[in-house]
Amino acid sequence: MVHAVKAVISRAKDAPVEVVTIHVPDPGPGEALVKVQACGVCHTDLHYKLGGIGDSYPYLLGHEAAGVVESVGEGVTDLAPGDYVILNWRAVCGECRSCLKGKPQYCFNTHNATQKMTLEDGTELSPALGIGAFAEKTLVHAGQCTKVDPAAPATVAGLLGCGVMAGIGAAINTGGVTRNDSVAVIGCGGVGNAAIAGSHLVGAKQIIAIDRDARKLEWAKEFGATHTILAGEGDVVEQVRALTGGHGVDVAIDAVGRPETWEQAFYMRDLAGTVVLVGVPTPAMELKMPLLEFFGRGGSLKSSWYGDCLPSRDFPVLTDLYLQGRLPLEKFVSEEITINDIETAFEKMHRGEVLRSVVVI
Ligand SMILES: NC(=O)c1ccc[n+]([C@@H]2O[C@H](COP(=O)([O-])OP(=O)(O)OC[C@H]3O[C@@H](n4cnc5c(N)ncnc54)[C@H](O)[C@@H]3O)[C@@H](O)[C@H]2O)c1
Ligand SMILES: [Zn+2]
Ligand SMILES: [Zn+2]
Repeated sequence: MVHAVKAVISRAKDAPVEVVTIHVPDPGPGEALVKVQACGVCHTDLHYKLGGIGDSYPYLLGHEAAGVVESVGEGVTDLAPGDYVILNWRAVCGECRSCLKGKPQYCFNTHNATQKMTLEDGTELSPALGIGAFAEKTLVHAGQCTKVDPAAPATVAGLLGCGVMAGIGAAINTGGVTRNDSVAVIGCGGVGNAAIAGSHLVGAKQIIAIDRDARKLEWAKEFGATHTILAGEGDVVEQVRALTGGHGVDVAIDAVGRPETWEQAFYMRDLAGTVVLVGVPTPAMELKMPLLEFFGRGGSLKSSWYGDCLPSRDFPVLTDLYLQGRLPLEKFVSEEITINDIETAFEKMHRGEVLRSVVVI
């Protein structure tokens, strides 16, 4: 059976998104059909729309979602209709070089559904990050469904499916932030503020939030920032040094993803400190720096895909921390919107008015 459902697609580079009917097949072997309940609007969806990720249009947008499993395909044993799940884009294969080395968080061959979702005329869709969840129903690999406590509403749980996990994980998993650390986060959107929340959760002693938008800095304080710096007013690196006894921070996180913000992160670190790049650069961006600086300052320069998370390990724990009142996921939800409002949500994101617009389906 094919399910005809409403969904949001990006048909061509920079064209406005469209709400259309798509066809979603019943799940085949290893697949699951999920009734999406809520899906956050992430900056990566905007990157897709603008052509920053590739040109495999039409894209089925949305990838930060939670919902309920409607049906599962042959051979799926650990998931059943009715299960409440967060969708993930890291269904690990268990067989690639990295999985075999015991590092499934870097899996080089993650699973997605094999069957294609299509437009009504049969044109195959490219689901954003292999998910495609601005849709009433979506088809994913069963491994992309992570069961969590249904007491957490989909509007907040879904955020763990991308941006919030990416930010928390960039701090804790990739950056190794721990108690007593000093941390700086450049770019305090959903991802950056999640890095702040994560650093706060594990006991960082100093958390410096940096954004060019004063509103974002006010929000950052609510997630645990101890200091804020308004970018564009003076030298950001100097201001971070001034706040850290002249030394710089242990961990600097770039949640913007531009050459100039990465360079700031590089220079605002203490000797032997860590840089984490979690913002996604576009293909044209380049960096030119003296090689000696890399050598002389030591430390580690890392990038963080999806916060180096393992969904099966991290999603249930973070959901439970939310339910215990220790991780304020609800503060990321600036507004709840419908599937018809995504273009407006992109504009609000662009103007910096929201942390997350969450589509309720
Ligand atoms: N690595 C991953 O796995 C992963 C996952 C999700 C999102 N992302 C990426 O993370 C980035 C942030 O996503 P988001 O949803 O939080 O976006 P967002 O648009 O909500 O936030 C970006 C923030 O950066 C600020 N900013 C922009 N330029 C700046 C500058 N020069 N200096 C200081 N602040 C600046 C903006 O004011 C805004 O607050 C995007 O590039 C997104 O694609 C990465
Ligand atoms: Zn693997
Ligand atoms: Zn995302």
